[in-house]
Amino acid sequence: MTKKITVLPGDGIGPEIIAEAVKVLAVITADMNLAMVFEDGLIGGAAYDVFGTPFPEQTIAQVQEADAILLGAVGGPKWESLDISVRPEKGLLGLRSTLGLFANLRPAVLYPQLEQASTLKPEVVSGLDLMIVRELTGGIYFGQPRGVRVLENGEKQGFNTLVYSESEIRRIAHSAFQIAQKRNRKVCSVDKANVLECTELWRQVVTEVGKSYPDVALSHMYVDNAAMQLVRAPKQFDVMVTSNMFGDILSDTAAMLTGSIGMLPSASLDANNKGMYEPIHGSAPDIAGQGIANPLATILSASMMLRYTFNETEAAERIEAAVHSALDAGFRTADIYSEGMHKVSTAQMGDAIVAALKG
Ligand code: IPM
Ligand code: MG
Repeated sequence: MTKKITVLPGDGIGPEIIAEAVKVLAVITADMNLAMVFEDGLIGGAAYDVFGTPFPEQTIAQVQEADAILLGAVGGPKWESLDISVRPEKGLLGLRSTLGLFANLRPAVLYPQLEQASTLKPEVVSGLDLMIVRELTGGIYFGQPRGVRVLENGEKQGFNTLVYSESEIRRIAHSAFQIAQKRNRKVCSVDKANVLECTELWRQVVTEVGKSYPDVALSHMYVDNAAMQLVRAPKQFDVMVTSNMFGDILSDTAAMLTGSIGMLPSASLDANNKGMYEPIHGSAPDIAGQGIANPLATILSASMMLRYTFNETEAAERIEAAVHSALDAGFRTADIYSEGMHKVSTAQMGDAIVAALKG
């Protein structure tokens, strides 16, 4: 049966990087006879401009019918003054929660060719290969009550709620342990159990789930220490599992270890491995429209889609190998450029991947 992929370019550099990922997917699917069709849709500011909402009914229907979703990025200064309920980011959060995409996989891999691009010393980051498993549909991002209220004395007070049920913690813990079983069999659970009751429960539940995985070594770390360890000695980690907000923050840090935030892909999976795939970076409005954004995180997200939702391991590996070849050949977008390399545009990087796939 033909697989249906909804493509949501979104805002800022979104359309530019998505075009390159679709280019790569078109080549690999044709070459390997994979029956896939691509259908564009609107999300974020692009959707707000047409429908007055960042996650319109039409897009909801599209993503519900799709087998997988490929997304660029959302947000930008144009929509920053809108009410928070209709800001572009709400579209992305709505998509994650509507589809129940609770398991967010963010692999931070340093390509050996990019050791010089990282701001950390090569000996600290060389060979880095870690996986952040971020809970994506709960925690403080979605907790109720939330808002800004006016106190009796007339002062405003903002409030959000950090909330996790045992079942939410349990299922993300299972995801993390199962991923670790296919890697180096180490899980580090990140919390703030010394201060927050909610994450004390997190630690208890993760520990309990860990008993069903005797082949995986479980450790726990407070989030402040984890942030420090990520820049001090990142290679100590294999799989890190953490809550929605901590995962948001730690994955940006992990991205920089790999040379550029433009290198990190992600997969957001539901209980049946239906998934949404997007780079972890944002819409980068400062460089949008210039054709200089790095499309590799999005191209690698497309590769994750082939691997996790469609079980097309060979196709996924071929894309990853093509990324290696393009980097070996010296192609670099501005964010990963270093002296002596060949600086290319967004589209030229996409072409280099296509050429490597065909070569
Ligand atoms: C991410 C982004 C999003 C998040 C924003 C755009 C809502 O930062 O995917 O990491 O906070 O989850
Ligand atoms: Mg983020």
